[in-house]
Amino acid sequence: MGTNKFPKGFYWGAATSSHQVEGNTKNDWTQWEKDNAKRLAETAKARWQDWQQERFPEMFKEENYISGAACDHYNRYEEDFDIAKSLSHNAHRFSIEWSRIEPEEGKFNEKEIEHYKKVLTALRKRGMEPFVTLWHWPNPVWIGELGAWENKETAKYFLRYAERIFSEYKDLVKFWMPLNEPGTDVALGYLLGNQPPGIRSKLIANAAFKNLMQAQKNVYGIAKSVSPDFQIGCSHFMFDIKPYHNLPWNIIAAKIMDYFANHRFFKAFNHSCDFFGIQYYQPFFVNAKLGGQFFGLFENKKVIERQSNLGWQIFPEGIANVLRKAARNKKPIYITENGLADCKDEYRGKFIQEHLKFVLQAISEGVDIRGYFHWSLLDNFEFVEMRGFWPRFGLVEVDYKTQKRTIRESAWEYKRMIEEYTAASQQKDA
Ligand code: BGC
Repeated sequence: MGTNKFPKGFYWGAATSSHQVEGNTKNDWTQWEKDNAKRLAETAKARWQDWQQERFPEMFKEENYISGAACDHYNRYEEDFDIAKSLSHNAHRFSIEWSRIEPEEGKFNEKEIEHYKKVLTALRKRGMEPFVTLWHWPNPVWIGELGAWENKETAKYFLRYAERIFSEYKDLVKFWMPLNEPGTDVALGYLLGNQPPGIRSKLIANAAFKNLMQAQKNVYGIAKSVSPDFQIGCSHFMFDIKPYHNLPWNIIAAKIMDYFANHRFFKAFNHSCDFFGIQYYQPFFVNAKLGGQFFGLFENKKVIERQSNLGWQIFPEGIANVLRKAARNKKPIYITENGLADCKDEYRGKFIQEHLKFVLQAISEGVDIRGYFHWSLLDNFEFVEMRGFWPRFGLVEVDYKTQKRTIRESAWEYKRMIEEYTAASQQKDA
C-alpha cells in the first residue's frame, strides 16, 4: 500500500488488433462488411449528430465500411514497431488473426505461422514485451458458417487453434489474452445486432456468452502444461457507471447495468485467468429511459463538455473507479486499452496525462496495476458497431491512400510521460 510511483517493470505501450490494422483479412466480418456497407453508408445520417456528419463526410461513403487494406500493418509491422520503440514503448499488444492461421477447418497455414513468428521476433528484438490476443472478434469463414459462438463446438475448435499457437510461440510469449472483450462481442453482435454476426436474440446471446466462457476455461486448462511461465488474461470493457443526478430510479438502474456489464463477467471469468485486461474509454451517466442506448433501457446522459469525435465524454477519474472495481477480483490488472477518437490531436496528450494521474492514484491505494496500453498505436478500421475509418484513434496518423505514417504530437508527449514515470520508479525512496 501507499506507493506514489508506477511499479518497476511496468509495461508501457499501445494496442492494435489484426482485423483493424493488418489489411486483406478474409474472415466472417469481411463478408459482412461487403453485404452491409451500402446500408451503413445510407443510414449514417440517422446514426450520427449533425456536427459529426459535417466534420466526417467519409461516413457517407461505402468504402468507409470495408476494412480492405486497412493500415497494411501485415507488411509494415517492422516500420510500425520501429515507431513504437522510438516512442519508448517497452511492450505491445496485438492479435493473431485466426482466419490466417486456420483458413480451413483443421488445416493450419505454415506460412502464416511463420509470419507471426517473425512479428514476435521483431518485437523481442526491439525490447518490447508482446501481449498476444488470440481472438479479437472476427472468426475464420468456416467458423462463421458453423454458427460462430452460437455453436457449442466453437469452443473446441478454439482450443485446438490456441494449443497450436501456444506450442509454436511458447518461447516468444509470456502474456496471452485468449479473448478480447467477450461481453462486448456478445452484446453488440448477438443481442443488439449492430455488428457481425448481426443477431438480435437474448437466447442466442446467452448461449454465445456461455460458449466464450467455456473457450476461456478450456484454454486456461491447458496453458500451464505448455509452459508454466504463461500468464493468461482476459480483457474486459468497463464504463464508469454512475447514476445521473443521483435520482433514486437511476441509482437502481445503475446497479442493474453494473450487474449485467461487470458483475456477470467477472463471476464467469475470474477462475479462468491469471490477470484482467481492463479497457476503459468513457463514463456512463445512467438515465433510465425506454429507447436508451444500453439494451434500449438506459441512456448515457451527456454531462461533460469535453468529448471525443465519437461524442464520448472525457472523464479521466473514471479510470480510477473502474480499476478499483476490477481490483475486487484480487488479480493483477493491465490496462489493455484506453484512448479516444481525436483526428486533430486536440485532446489526446492531456487525455493520457490525466488518465495516468488517476491510474497512479489507484496504484497508491494499493490496486495492483502492471501495465498501460494506449488504444491505439495506429489510426485503424474502427469496427465496433461498424463505424469504419473516420474515427481516428492513433498515436500515429495513417494516410490510408499512401499508407504514410505521421507521429502525432501526443505520441511524443506520451513518450515523455513514460520516461519520466520510469525514471521516478527507479529512484530509491527517500
Ligand atoms: C475494442 C477495440 C476498439 C475500441 C474503440 C474496444 O472495445 O476492443 O477493437 O477499436 O474499443 O472502440
